[in-house]
Amino acid sequence: ATAALIVAIISYLVGAIPFGYLIPKWCKGIDIREHGSGNPGATNVLRTMGNEWGILVLCLDLLKGLLPVWLLPMWLLPSDSPAMLHLRVLAGVAAIVGHMLPVYLQFRGGKGVATALGVVIVLGGWGTPVAVSMFLITFAAWRLVALSSMLAVSAFAITQLVILYPYPSQTWSLLGFSVAAPLLIIYRHRSNIVRLWNREEERTEIGKRSST
Ligand code: G3P
Repeated sequence: ATAALIVAIISYLVGAIPFGYLIPKWCKGIDIREHGSGNPGATNVLRTMGNEWGILVLCLDLLKGLLPVWLLPMWLLPSDSPAMLHLRVLAGVAAIVGHMLPVYLQFRGGKGVATALGVVIVLGGWGTPVAVSMFLITFAAWRLVALSSMLAVSAFAITQLVILYPYPSQTWSLLGFSVAAPLLIIYRHRSNIVRLWNREEERTEIGKRSST
């Protein structure tokens, strides 16, 4: 229980580091919340500042998910502990919630896609390559990051459900995560859903910048 509390708090605080806000502020004096979609995430940084900045934020936000899930449970538990998976899932949930609701930004954070990718790279399973493929294919077709993100997390949930459902007693935490995290990420895209519905969502062209 103490290990779980330590993991949850540290993962939350790491996940809450708002790189999508800090990088534009520190490097160009830009308040990302006043540009593009206003979202402090890699997509909006790419849209506002250009490819290299978007990719930098993508990598940093991804690490916020990857590092706590990978390192903290490994430090706190013996490697053969049956609780390892559950502690990793807890770290992942805390990091994603930290990104979405960061204490450092009055709880107004991002949508969690990059951080969740970092989490599932460690948690593994077939859902991850399926989700990444879904993202790449749909993005190549439509250039709509939000739509591709939502389709990718949906594909992740369905794949994980199909694969894990026969083994609920060992994998219940990962199973729960595989459904809850995509639902949470889709919920964070509500403004994008409205824009997509009204055909107002901006397409993201890699290589072009819209302002500054
Ligand atoms: O990862 C967030 C992305 O799916 C949408 O971002 O800035 O287009 O709302 P944005």
